[in-house]
Amino acid sequence: MRINTLLPVALAAATAQAQQTAWGQCGGTGWTGAKTCISGYTCTFSNPYYSQCLPGAPGTTTSKVATSTKATSTLSTLKTSTSTKASTTSGGSTSSPTGLGWKWLGVDESGAEFGNTAIPGVWGKDFTFPADASLSTLMGQGFNIFRVPFLMERMAVGSLTASLDPAYLANYTATINYITGKGGWAIVDPHNFGRYNGNIITDTAGFQTFWANLASTFKSNSKAIFDTNNEYHDMDQTLVLNLNQAAINGIRGVGATSQYIFAEGNSYSGAWTWETVNDNLKALTDPSNLLVYEMHQYLDSDGSGTNATCVSSTIGVDRITSATAWLQTNNKVGIIGEFAGGANSVCLSAVTGMLSYMKANSNVWSGALWWGGGPWWGTYIFGFEPPSSTGYNYYDSTLITYKP
Ligand SMILES: *[C@@H]1O[C@H](CO)[C@@H](O)[C@H](O)[C@H]1NC(C)=O
Ligand SMILES: *[C@@H]1O[C@H](CO)[C@@H](O)[C@H](O)[C@H]1NC(C)=O
Repeated sequence: MRINTLLPVALAAATAQAQQTAWGQCGGTGWTGAKTCISGYTCTFSNPYYSQCLPGAPGTTTSKVATSTKATSTLSTLKTSTSTKASTTSGGSTSSPTGLGWKWLGVDESGAEFGNTAIPGVWGKDFTFPADASLSTLMGQGFNIFRVPFLMERMAVGSLTASLDPAYLANYTATINYITGKGGWAIVDPHNFGRYNGNIITDTAGFQTFWANLASTFKSNSKAIFDTNNEYHDMDQTLVLNLNQAAINGIRGVGATSQYIFAEGNSYSGAWTWETVNDNLKALTDPSNLLVYEMHQYLDSDGSGTNATCVSSTIGVDRITSATAWLQTNNKVGIIGEFAGGANSVCLSAVTGMLSYMKANSNVWSGALWWGGGPWWGTYIFGFEPPSSTGYNYYDSTLITYKP
């Protein structure tokens, strides 16, 4: 989802109206519902599209209501993005595992990346971790892969090359180990959009060190998967290539050689623009030959994943057709690391059409993950937390028919 971290913004005057309940949405682009929370909860900025009533008294100064400025500019950038097509001539020599087949079906599991304007923030107030019970329920149904976002600023506090924060890492590792201990696959996802402290990461050596530090923690866990970064966007295209390669080098360099690595692309890693924007990423090399290209795809009009209305019942297939051709042409393997649609029949058709098409092309598509689960989504349109959130209610019985 088009989460952007970054700037706490001065609070707009909150007008008194009905108060939102615990965990409910209380702000975000286009939000017209209650903007204040019941007693004991505070409306907390999560991203430009979503603020939420989280436990705790109001913060002293850090009210967190996003302006829509950032979102608008990134969305319009996306829509008009033409991209510089890097002229890579060596594509094809390396390095994706071919023939994985339809291997994975799963869910993104939010929590540790929440409260991104509060660094490091307070556990239980600004951020949390996925609930083991929910993971267990989903695994029992056949979901076998979970992507677990976290914030680099909380993991490596102060700088990219800082040693990892023991407490945050311990809690995060507990979630990863819970998943893999039960036989699932867990995607380690720095949910940072190619940014650190709000600035585009240009220090590829520092980024390599960050990944070396992180990967060494998981190097004996072959069911951990390393996702280089969530949704690079509005970045130099060669920089995106170099950051991905630095991550791969950092991971393999510390002896984490048995794990899959998921590389993401520019323009929010969108499948619909992948072929034109991210063609240069075919030059990535992985000595372990376990590289998978992770793309995201939403089905609303601007592809941002912020509207429950899907463009058409075939928009899922339409939006991943060119990426499918790119994977086939370049002998690569891909996964859809985020997708979702609203709880309505048009989106249901679009989602099932896309998943069926992916399974039919499982020589290049290895799986898909719904965005998203996690204990704090409240009334979010795509919420996938058992037993009763919106997306889970509407889609669970359908999605599990696509389990590997
Ligand atoms: C880790 O989780 C424990 C609860 O299990 C909590 O008390 C602690 O504050 C958490 N710390 C961080 C940094 O997440
Ligand atoms: C969602 O998209 C529909 C159709 O394009 C539009 O009518 C509606 O206003 C949008 N809702 C929001 C909150 O943007």
